[in-house]
Amino acid sequence: SKENFTFHNGVTIPSIGFGTWQIPNEEAYDSVTMALKNGYTHIDTALAYKNEENVGKAIRDFNINRENVFITSKLPAETKGYDETVEAFNTTITNLGVDYLDLYLIHAPWPWGEKGADYTEANIQSFKAMEKLYNEGKIKAIGVSNFEIENLKPILDKCDIVPHANQIPFYIGKDQEELISFCKENNIVVEAYSPLATGDILGLTELKEMAKKYDATVAQLAIRYCLEKDTLPLPKSTHEKRIIENRQLDFEISKEDIEKLDQIKDVRK
Ligand code: A2P
Repeated sequence: SKENFTFHNGVTIPSIGFGTWQIPNEEAYDSVTMALKNGYTHIDTALAYKNEENVGKAIRDFNINRENVFITSKLPAETKGYDETVEAFNTTITNLGVDYLDLYLIHAPWPWGEKGADYTEANIQSFKAMEKLYNEGKIKAIGVSNFEIENLKPILDKCDIVPHANQIPFYIGKDQEELISFCKENNIVVEAYSPLATGDILGLTELKEMAKKYDATVAQLAIRYCLEKDTLPLPKSTHEKRIIENRQLDFEISKEDIEKLDQIKDVRK
């Protein structure tokens, strides 16, 4: 399978990222170290995860050059506006102990407590601040997360740079076809967070049976599915065996089986 995705500006991003949502700061150092040791070169964090400090320390302590590791972080959903964005970005790079980010995302179109609220203008201001940081070389790629088509359109209309990425929840059963197509048409790389539905799909009998056929685990089948859909999976684990397993994906899911997987109902609804 391919090693990287390429953003529309030519910057490449490793095809599997190590997700750190729900890894507490105390565990983040060991988990990220295990990920790096086992070949991950792409780490995904956020200010809101409250683990940037130990994510950064693990990366800095590891014997890897900064340019050989891809680091993503995110502007908190509650923080919007031009100056606020620059300030939050500075907090993030200080927490991580790095002088640039590979990818910086608006975490969500609205504060978590106000899902669906209209923050269009504030998001535009935040994105413009990110464009400035991008132009200064402090961020290699900029994007959004949890944006629907209606949230993306104003950014495409009013900002100079087409977002390089949109990070969305995606797993077997989660219908994101329309949004993924829209992103593809606009050269926006789709990143899949919760590719295992935070663990909720691992027990499905259908998936267990199909995984056997490929001599794979359900987790591997689920992560592979994201790649087959041309999305970039960000699996999370704090266990080394699973961390290793989650990027051993040397098999292809048949077209027929993909179609079967497409029919599965969302376990989280
Ligand atoms: P743990 O961190 O204890 O290993 P997602 O990436 O969709 O958010 O899912 C993460 C959840 O799935 C976590 O609960 C994680 O548990 C679990 N998990 C991650 N990888 C595997 C795996 N290979 N096998 C079983 N469970 C896994």
